[in-house]
Amino acid sequence: MSKKHVLKVELGERSYDIIVQPSISRDAEFYLKPFISGRKCLIVTDHTVNDIYGHKTAKTLSGSGAKVSSVVFKAGETSKNLDTIREFYQKAVNEELDRSSLVVALGGGVCGDMAGFMAATYMRGIDFIQIPTSLLAMVDSSVGGKTGVDLPEGKNLVGAFWQPVLVLIDPELLETLPANELRCGLAEIIKYAVILDAELFELLENNIEKLKKLDLDFYSGIISRCCRLKAEVVSKDEREGGLRAILNYGHTFGHAIEAVSGYNSILHGEAIAVGMAIAADLAVKLGTFDKTSADRQEKLMKALELPVTLKNYDAEKILEAMGNDKKKQDGKIKLILPEKIGSVSISPCADRKLMLEVIRNRCS
Ligand code: NAD
Ligand code: GLY
Repeated sequence: MSKKHVLKVELGERSYDIIVQPSISRDAEFYLKPFISGRKCLIVTDHTVNDIYGHKTAKTLSGSGAKVSSVVFKAGETSKNLDTIREFYQKAVNEELDRSSLVVALGGGVCGDMAGFMAATYMRGIDFIQIPTSLLAMVDSSVGGKTGVDLPEGKNLVGAFWQPVLVLIDPELLETLPANELRCGLAEIIKYAVILDAELFELLENNIEKLKKLDLDFYSGIISRCCRLKAEVVSKDEREGGLRAILNYGHTFGHAIEAVSGYNSILHGEAIAVGMAIAADLAVKLGTFDKTSADRQEKLMKALELPVTLKNYDAEKILEAMGNDKKKQDGKIKLILPEKIGSVSISPCADRKLMLEVIRNRCS
């Protein structure tokens, strides 16, 4: 039987557990009861996830003593906006949720970010639980308390830091995740390896087949390793005063690519993969990252069938969209650049001409 991993995000009175356990539904009531027994629970989920896991999750929550209702939205990044949040508020009011009620995010990162934002703001903040169902959400977005929605001008421009009270991860849910969505999670896993964990990078390089074939034991270990890395960073720097910015490796370019695409022609993880390729190129040009390591990153992304180039994007528009990124320092774009596999630096950058050159090389 696969091993259970219990991790903690240490944040004083806002600390919480992350449980990674295949077939978690057997024990889910045990984990959930202390948080939801006797409370009203609103499940927030998208149509795709609801069709597969909605009924079972509602049953587990009811079995744990909660009074359950659900609000379901159209799957995808184009739903991640304030109009959808308004629908959540309306449902919460109709169901008479009060300050003792709780939100359960059942889905990928889009769902978790929106459910968390709704929980952060409804009645000035109510509890929420993350049950991530995509690989990306399991290794990244369900942990750390960043919640929010997009504006047409940029990704995640409206949001709040609001930590969940519990994160329940069942890697078996990945069995229904489409292959392209699995790859998006792999992009975030590569991100952790490049920024913090050279051993993890080697482990990925040496286990391509296990990753492609969805070896669940292997995934459980990798997911908990990534959650541990993220928990350590978040515990040290919850609100991104400094260190936490490293988690945005590839994201400044990636978010701009998503914004330019109108959020509907490229998936978040794919944009991040291209963003990491651009960041590595830039670091090589600046002389801070060796070409051999950049090639290793590229080889790993290609082996996992992640995109490293795009066609027909306007580099000027991507650079302009980067100007709207939240991660700015003294008006300058803040970039996360690799130094070696397992280590990155945060640098305000850079020469506009050079930035355009590296973007153009990958995106046109
Ligand atoms: P997503 O939530 O849109 O999920 C991807 C797709 O997979 C959706 O169509 C969904 O319905 C489907 N899906 C999810 N789980 C499934 C399952 N088990 N079986 C079948 N289908 C399933 O996208 P995502 O890639 O999970 O998340 C991307 C979002 O996460 C972006 O908005 C990004 O900004 C955000 N994000 C947030 C953080 C954070 O720290 N808050 C970190 C990284 C990314
Ligand atoms: N995904 C970036 C962060 O959580 O800070």
